[in-house]
Amino acid sequence: MKVIVLENAFEISKQAADIIIRQINNKHGSVLGFATGASPVETYKRIVESYERGEVSLKHITTFNLDEYADIDRENVNSYYYFMKDNLFGKTDVNFDKVNFLSGVKHEEAEAECERYYNKIKEAGGIDIQLLGIGVNGHIGFNEPGDEFMDRPFLVELTQSTIDANSKYFEAVGAKMPHYALTMGIGDIMRAKKIVLIATGASKAKAIKALVEGEVTPECPASILQLHSDVTIFLDKESAALLGNS
Ligand code: GLP
Repeated sequence: MKVIVLENAFEISKQAADIIIRQINNKHGSVLGFATGASPVETYKRIVESYERGEVSLKHITTFNLDEYADIDRENVNSYYYFMKDNLFGKTDVNFDKVNFLSGVKHEEAEAECERYYNKIKEAGGIDIQLLGIGVNGHIGFNEPGDEFMDRPFLVELTQSTIDANSKYFEAVGAKMPHYALTMGIGDIMRAKKIVLIATGASKAKAIKALVEGEVTPECPASILQLHSDVTIFLDKESAALLGNS
C-alpha cells in the first residue's frame, strides 16, 4: 500500500483527481468505481474543473457506484445517485447510459438487483480504478464490521455508528435515514485493478490505523486492502495522526 500524507483536502483532491484523469486520458473507455460521502467531494470538483478546461472528457467512461440506500428513490436528495449527479455527472459530459448504480429497491427485490449489478461489472470487464472513502468504523462502501468479508453485492443492515454519522444529511431535510443499504461486496472492491482511498480528519484516525497497521479482519473491513497489489491511500495529518504509534 502506498500511504501519502498531504497538507489538506485540497492537496489530496489534486493528486486523486490527477490519477483518475490520467486513467481516462490513457483509456477513454475506462471503467471507474465511484464513492459518495464528504471525502471525494473535492476530488470531483477538481475533475469538473479539468473537464471545464477541456483537459478531460467523461463521455466514454463507464461508472459503477459503490452503494445506495435501500427503499429510496433516485431523485431523493439523499440518494447517492442524486449526490453523483449533483457533484460530478451532471457537471460533465458523462453518458448517463453508462452510469451504473445499485438501485434503492425494496428488500424483496434486493437479491435480484445485487445479482444484476455483479454481472454488469463483469460484463464491463471489471473496474479500472475504485475510489473509496472510509467510515469511522472502518467500513468501505457499506461493508460494515462483521464476521465475514462479503464477495458480491448484498443488502446490508447499517450499524448504529453509520446511522449516527450519516443521519444529519436526512435530518437536514426533515427525513429519516434508511437503516438498510445495497453495497458492492469486499470481493467486488478487491477485484478493481487499482484502488484509491481518501480520508481526512481526526474522526478517521482510528480506522486508518486499523486499515494500515492492524490485522486483516472483517471487524475492520478496510483492512482487507492490505492484500491488494495496487492501493494508494491519501491522508491529511489528522487522519494519519495515529500511524506509527503503538
Ligand atoms: C458512507 C459511505 C461510504 C463512505 C463513508 C465515509 O456511509 N457509504 O462509501 O466512504 O461512509 O463517508 P464520509 O466521506 O462522508 O466520511
